[in-house]
Amino acid sequence: MTDNAPTTTPGAELVIRRPDDWHVHLRDGAVLDAVAPFTSAHFGRAIIMPNLVPPVVMAADAAGYRARILAAVPAGHDFTPLMTLYLTEATDPDDVAAAARDGLVTAVKLYPAGATTNSASGVRDVRAVDAVLERMAAIGLPLLIHGEATDPEIDIFDREAVFIDRVLIPLRQRHPGLRVVLEHVTTVDAVDYVRSVEAGLAATITVHHLVINRNAVFRGGLRPHYFCLPVAKRERHRLALRAAATSGDPRFFLGTDTAPHPVTAKESACGCAGIFTAPVALACLAHVFEAEGALDRFEGFASRHGPAFYGLPVNDARTRLVRDAAPYTPPAPVLARDDAIAVFDPEFPLHWRVADTQPT
Ligand code: DOR
Ligand code: ZN
Repeated sequence: MTDNAPTTTPGAELVIRRPDDWHVHLRDGAVLDAVAPFTSAHFGRAIIMPNLVPPVVMAADAAGYRARILAAVPAGHDFTPLMTLYLTEATDPDDVAAAARDGLVTAVKLYPAGATTNSASGVRDVRAVDAVLERMAAIGLPLLIHGEATDPEIDIFDREAVFIDRVLIPLRQRHPGLRVVLEHVTTVDAVDYVRSVEAGLAATITVHHLVINRNAVFRGGLRPHYFCLPVAKRERHRLALRAAATSGDPRFFLGTDTAPHPVTAKESACGCAGIFTAPVALACLAHVFEAEGALDRFEGFASRHGPAFYGLPVNDARTRLVRDAAPYTPPAPVLARDDAIAVFDPEFPLHWRVADTQPT
């Protein structure tokens, strides 16, 4: 990797408000049971992606999924799942408004149809959901966007930038009051666009996009465990993401997009997109902030900017991260029944770890 060597002395520690993860895939069934504890161990709240099969479309689906998530969280973990609905062209604005009023959902997710894993029921023509977006703007419910254009003519590395020009800018012009999160941004184009907007627009950034560029997917052979969507871009884009994440700008906050798939589904002729980062997300993030000389801004990115955007309080609990002098062994794959799920390997030695969480 091209990271600068960390500069903090061994034994350093960092105490921050308990972080939240503003973009998580927890799946369902045995995988949910296997992966949820890694998120609930380190994060107070998480925005839960609705791309199950079938997707979480109706308020009642979200209520059932929320109960299954809570059942998978170990006793003693203080964790609140923040539910989302999967926007389709048949979504009823009244159902969305009722779910928001009841406090059942925190946001609605827009997947362009065909953009990524389980997005077949997503939106083909974004104008078909204008009535839902209008209602969301009126009640202040945020829209979370997977920002990739899906026209097969468009080069995969250009999909985010094209989406901003062709879909996002017109959408925000039609709905100026709508609060929008452009999720898992991967390009300097997205960073510049978010910075150009005064209010009502924010972006999440994943840990892996701060660590890898697109070479990681191809170095020495095809490496499916570094494949995700949006796909990692050139080095100059990664550097722009690192600058944005460590800048202290409240428009950027953490959304890991931790996305578990069985190893057998990743190591395949048509491998699934998604990187399972939850067990090492904070450890890798502390490494990145340390390398950038920005540990004083870690708390903003991981714990403060997200709640500020959503109008929620910062978590009361404190998380202590420590930097051990000796690197530790990366976590082994997680097992969901017979399926192994590989944990993200940042290809740098791990020194930071989450030591403990204090209630206040
Ligand atoms: O890499 C990804 N994996 N990107 C997504 O947008 C979806 C996710 C998944 O669900 O696996
Ligand atoms: Zn995702």
